[in-house]
Amino acid sequence: MDRFGFEILQTKRKISLKFQQKRIVFWERKLSKMVKDKVVLDPYAFKSAKKRDKTIYLVYKLGESLEYFKRLSEKTGMHFDITLLRSGTLSGRASGELICTYGHKHEENRGELYFVLKNECMIELYDETSRETLVLSLPERSYIFIHPKFFHRLIAGKEDCVVLGIVPKDAGHDYSVVKNKGFPFHVFYDSKRGMLKYVHNPNFSGVSLLIDKVLSKSSLTAILKRINTFRKLLFNPKTGRSIYYLG
Ligand SMILES: [Fe+2]
Repeated sequence: MDRFGFEILQTKRKISLKFQQKRIVFWERKLSKMVKDKVVLDPYAFKSAKKRDKTIYLVYKLGESLEYFKRLSEKTGMHFDITLLRSGTLSGRASGELICTYGHKHEENRGELYFVLKNECMIELYDETSRETLVLSLPERSYIFIHPKFFHRLIAGKEDCVVLGIVPKDAGHDYSVVKNKGFPFHVFYDSKRGMLKYVHNPNFSGVSLLIDKVLSKSSLTAILKRINTFRKLLFNPKTGRSIYYLG
């Protein structure tokens, strides 16, 4: 266990988290909720949720659970949450829509910092004004500043993935922009071709897609060392425009 109070353990593609404390504040997202709110496209995901529901990701509230982060959260006014995103398809079939988070937009003008602690995943960003959509690969140890103009969601990689999200407490989550709508493009895996497919969602018209990779890398220690600088940029995204990924 390191000084931050948690450890990431991996067996094959599956990750489990070990914490210094027994009482950890967390919540989990079930496939049935994603299907009920129509934030996914794959028809097999709908069939699968009816047969057997499953947890597709878990969110651990470090700022409410671990001593180090409790202090940091109080001092900075920010949440420090880790998302454990499962790998594979929503339906559990070899091919199909990849597991993803529900997605949201911030209610207030506040940015968010994502840092990939373990393995890799993708992030989808959608700007409602320009109708531009970005799907970015996030390798292990990469980080990205998410500008508040974007709807954002994480999409699974080949193995379970762990992402730390740092966001001002007053940012707010607006899920209603995604509910019964989804995102402009949904990422599917085609196992026969060993390729990703970007499926356009008919709920959105005139949208464009850009695929890219995030290259900025860091470490948890380095990120937390600069937390006061980052805090200013997250609370006031205008001053930190150059650090945000804008497409
Ligand atoms: Fe967010």
